[in-house]
Amino acid sequence: RVTVAVRPAASAKSVMMADVEELKKVVGYKSVDDYVSSGMVVGLGTGSTAYFAVERLGQKLASGELKDVVAIPTSLRTKEQAESLNIPLVTLDTHPKLDVAIDGADEVDPALNLVKGRGGALLREKMVEVMADKFIVIVDDSKLVDGLGISGAMPVEVTPFCWEFTLNRLKQAKSLTGCDAKLRMADGKPYVTDNDNYIVDLYFTEPIKDAQAAATEINSMVGVVEHGLFLDMTTAVLIAGKNGVEVKLK
Ligand code: 5RP
Repeated sequence: RVTVAVRPAASAKSVMMADVEELKKVVGYKSVDDYVSSGMVVGLGTGSTAYFAVERLGQKLASGELKDVVAIPTSLRTKEQAESLNIPLVTLDTHPKLDVAIDGADEVDPALNLVKGRGGALLREKMVEVMADKFIVIVDDSKLVDGLGISGAMPVEVTPFCWEFTLNRLKQAKSLTGCDAKLRMADGKPYVTDNDNYIVDLYFTEPIKDAQAAATEINSMVGVVEHGLFLDMTTAVLIAGKNGVEVKLK
């Protein structure tokens, strides 16, 4: 078990934020230390937790502790970070099978199903992570939920063409009864993904009753590109909390 040191307080808020950063770093580093070996094809996730896994991989390649690793980034942000660390990059076109993928999550339920995509990278994340022999999820303990859809948005990537029509269809979906749907905005304009699509964020007042039915119904809508329910994909979740890192295996 890794124990996280508590620093002397500056202000309660800054200490709390610093501690969350520390937890993300601990779990990000541990994921690479425990699951990445020389010669592997590795999927690199997106977000503030995955950032530390990418950093650790860069360090270990630079020091020679890991060799012959190639990686597939799940966003332009992660691609830039990986390039800045000289991590050799490939694509699914040439490397359709990955040994491991490492990524954060927005929600993790007791069965290790996930909500992902509040950072906007869900399509590339799912394309890459579904092809990995092991999908390792790294979170701090604030991401644990009793049911999916309860702590914030469940994102759906949609085509810009007639997005309002698709948004309304999502609102009317049987398996999503009672959800509110909003087009994600950034700087007063629709948020645009790395794939030039939009995101519709779904908000629920109680957990999604049947996530599998929701996933199937959303996927059946023409105009939807992908959704942020990552079901039955996780191999292990590394959860950082104030007492160290807990590992939950599927
Ligand atoms: C991006 C994601 C991220 O993995 C998710 O939002 C978690 O990010 P963070 O580690 O910054 O909380 O799905 O699309």
